[in-house]
Amino acid sequence: MSLATSIEFRRAAFADVPASRRLGAEAFGVSPHPAPDPDPDSWPSPNVRPWVATDDGEVVAGLGVRSFTSWFHGARVPTAGFAGVTVAAEHRGSGLLRPLMEAALAEARDRGDVVSTLYPSSAGIYRGLGYEVVGAFEDVRVPMAALAAVARPAAGVRARRATAADVPAVRQVYEAWASAQNGPLSRGETPFTMEADGMTGPDSDYTGVSLAVRGEGADEETLGFASWSRGPGYDRTNTIEVDDLVALTPDAARVLFRLLGSFGSVAGWVQVCTSGGWAGVDVSRLVLPDHAATSVPRPYMLRLLDVPGALGASRVPPVTARVPFAVADPRTPDLEGAWTLEAADGAVRVTPDDRATPGDRLTFTSAGLAVTWAGAQSTANARLAGGADGPTGHDALWDALWGGRQVHVRDYF
Ligand SMILES: CC(C)(COP(=O)(O)OP(=O)(O)OC[C@H]1O[C@@H](n2cnc3c(N)ncnc32)[C@H](O)[C@@H]1OP(=O)(O)O)[C@@H](O)C(=O)NCCC(=O)NCCS
Repeated sequence: MSLATSIEFRRAAFADVPASRRLGAEAFGVSPHPAPDPDPDSWPSPNVRPWVATDDGEVVAGLGVRSFTSWFHGARVPTAGFAGVTVAAEHRGSGLLRPLMEAALAEARDRGDVVSTLYPSSAGIYRGLGYEVVGAFEDVRVPMAALAAVARPAAGVRARRATAADVPAVRQVYEAWASAQNGPLSRGETPFTMEADGMTGPDSDYTGVSLAVRGEGADEETLGFASWSRGPGYDRTNTIEVDDLVALTPDAARVLFRLLGSFGSVAGWVQVCTSGGWAGVDVSRLVLPDHAATSVPRPYMLRLLDVPGALGASRVPPVTARVPFAVADPRTPDLEGAWTLEAADGAVRVTPDDRATPGDRLTFTSAGLAVTWAGAQSTANARLAGGADGPTGHDALWDALWGGRQVHVRDYF
């Protein structure tokens, strides 16, 4: 599709803010609490890169790219998170999305981001750009009755309210959990950092952060935390909202779920932001004796930006392996190529292979690479979905390298 010469794709300027906000409000609905107008001195927000497409100077499409690091295969991987993607209603279907996304993806790659992620309103919008669904953020609603049956924790594991002094321990619990998964944000970058003011101060985002702890005084160990908001009212129609519930032991999960269940006389539900669906279920939910929970999943999509960069950052099982592989996908020419992967002592090296011939090796589409590298699907399943092709001899090895971690994500953007 050829675009009019009056169309320009560029980083947004402060003067574009009113038009960009109007577009965003049209696409995503007007918030009853619109954010105040930004201040030119603090715009754009840290770690956000806004982009627009203009037609004769008029803003007709926009998006924002967030920079953060997320955990994949034991490494903090530089990630470009796309949000607020919108094309003006009258310009939809005219081919603006791809060049706008490609310009922002190219900038992210140049800055050193090796993967890109997003929460799609429809997965089909982003498939042609190389993204695939690898997991889901979920709002899980658990009836209080299900929490009433959670077993008592072992003696010695108890709850207490966190204070500002506990925030470093809370961060450590999050990191211990997140670093063992694929996908969670490291929360090392604004606005995702866990700050004492936001968690525990008088202006905190929560009613409270409750800890699951073991031991006393200097020997006390923090084993889990739940950040919860009480909400209004005191009948069974009410819901206690939990932004985070992370537990490093089953008893810590029991302590936290029982604490939430103790509100059963004044609330009917607990809603927990979690991830994984039933396939890669969040382990803290395994202490629930009753599966009576309903979930609203919000799929999370991934695309690689730099194949050697993403694979080479990963820590893998300590096998010695050599796997020739390729990416062939005309929709994502930036990712195409043929490489040899060498794994040894838990590290991976990916080097281009000039002697590759078409069909001589395990070959992925961009989506097939995303789902297998993230450990979300086996190579066999990627083949079923058209995401992998070529000789099957290295499938099991590929799965062994990438299949050991579940995909989770706990921050919506
Ligand atoms: C989503 C949106 C940005 C797409 O822009 P557009 O100009 O309509 O996109 P295009 O017509 O160029 O289509 C791009 C691709 O998305 C697909 N697509 C578009 N709308 C889709 C939908 N609702 N469901 C599934 N796929 C869709 C097209 O089939 C096309 O796929 P292809 O690249 O494989 O051919 C635009 O429709 C919009 O602003 N919608 C409202 C806001 C929104 O949903 N934003 C996305 C937030 S994550």
